[in-house]
Formats: sequence, C-alpha cells, structure tokens
Amino acid sequence: MGKDVIVACDFASAGAVYAFLDRFPAGEKPFVKIGMELYYAEGPAIVREIKKRGHRIFLDLKLHDIPNTVKKAMAVLSNLDVDLVNLHAAGTRAMMEAALEGLTRPDGTRPLLIAVTQLTSTDQESLERELLIREPMEQVVLHYAAAAKAAGLDGVVCSPLEAAAVHERCGRDFLTVTPGVRFAEGDRGDQKRVMTPAQARQAGSDYIVVGRPITAAADPAAAYRRCVEEFLN
Ligand code: C5P
Repeated sequence: MGKDVIVACDFASAGAVYAFLDRFPAGEKPFVKIGMELYYAEGPAIVREIKKRGHRIFLDLKLHDIPNTVKKAMAVLSNLDVDLVNLHAAGTRAMMEAALEGLTRPDGTRPLLIAVTQLTSTDQESLERELLIREPMEQVVLHYAAAAKAAGLDGVVCSPLEAAAVHERCGRDFLTVTPGVRFAEGDRGDQKRVMTPAQARQAGSDYIVVGRPITAAADPAAAYRRCVEEFLN
C-alpha cells in the first residue's frame, strides 16, 4: 500500500456515516477510519457495509489485553476483511506477536497492524507521575516504536512531527500513520500540534488521518480531493 489520505469517520451512527459517504460520487471511495464510537454503536455490521461499498478500512479499536485474548479478537477483526488495525504497544511484545498470529488468515494474508506508542493526550507529567515512566516522551515513543517493529508490526500511529524520527529509528518502510492534519487556513479545533497535508508529506508521513477538515466541510468531496492533492503531489 502506498501513501494515502484516510478519512476519520467520527460519527455516532450508521445513518450519519452513510449520509456523509453518499456525498462522494459513486466511483470515489476514500480510505476510511472507523473508531470506537461508531463500532461500539453499530457493531461489525457497519464494517461489512462500508467494505461492501468499496472502501478500504482502518479499524481503530486500539486493542490492549492479555496476548491470548488479543489474538482471538484480532482473528475476528481479520475475518471482517479490514485493511488496517491497531493496538497499544504497551501491551508488550508477546501481545503484539499474538495479535499478528491472530490476524494472519489461513492463506497467509492479513490486515496491516500498527501500534499506538503513547496517546497524545498523555503528557510528560502524567507519564512520570501516573505511569512512573521517567524518560523523555520522545524516547518513550521511539522505544515503543522499536518494540513494535521488533514484534513484526507494520508501523505506528504518531504525530507527523515524530514521523521522521520514527523512520530514522525503524526504517523507511515502517509505516507512520499520522493524525493532527489541518489546512493552512483551517480551524485547528482541539488539535494543538498540527501540520498541513504538504508538510506531513515532507515530514515523511505514509498515511494522514483527517477528520473534521473533511467531515465538517461544506463540500466534503472537494475537501478530500484537496487533501489528496496536497499530500500526494
Ligand atoms: O477531526 P480530526 O482531524 O482532528 O480527527 C483526527 C482523528 O485522529 C480522530 O479520529 C482522532 O481520534 C484521531 N487521533 C488523533 N490523535 C491521536 C490519535 C488519534 O487525533 N494521537
């Protein structure tokens, strides 16, 4: 899979997400992200339906449990024929390896698997005081990325600001999937550290995850095309 724009479909119901996807012409099928809110509201049926409509799917459920449980859950998600799934690297290497086993289908194919290193909502202070991790955040992120790579995963979710360092540590082929993208003149919303699609490309992001700049646009298809244009060209 090459570089692409993934549209974060952060909607609360199937009706809302279909209304959004129906605003694209029949032949245009963006890669979409389905997160916990929509998945927990609508269940696996929403994944099957969006897949049937011809979209590639990043199922963003961030699994984190004992290895055996994650392995079995990943086998279920793999059967849904999603393209990309994720987990928390904090679950340890054994959990990540079990996840890969669970994802791998009898024919040897599997969805791509990426890891969350540290959530961007965790800051240095909570890292130290609550999680008792004393190292600087960037070192922690790179260490977790290296652990994901060692376990055989395909990449990490990270800020576009971290993409270059992750590639330096883990190699150019190790995927960086980066949220926190805004158009130059756009509203940042609650995102604090943002990059434009062109800056994310320059920083080395492989996939950008873009929500509100597309979902809340007056013309979502036009906003999506602009994003693709800026990111890929
Ligand atoms: O609307 P917006 O473009 O901010 O959406 C970004 C998407 O990426 C959301 O689904 C958000 O949950 C997700 N995300 C993020 N920052 C992270 C991890 C995921 O914004 N560190």
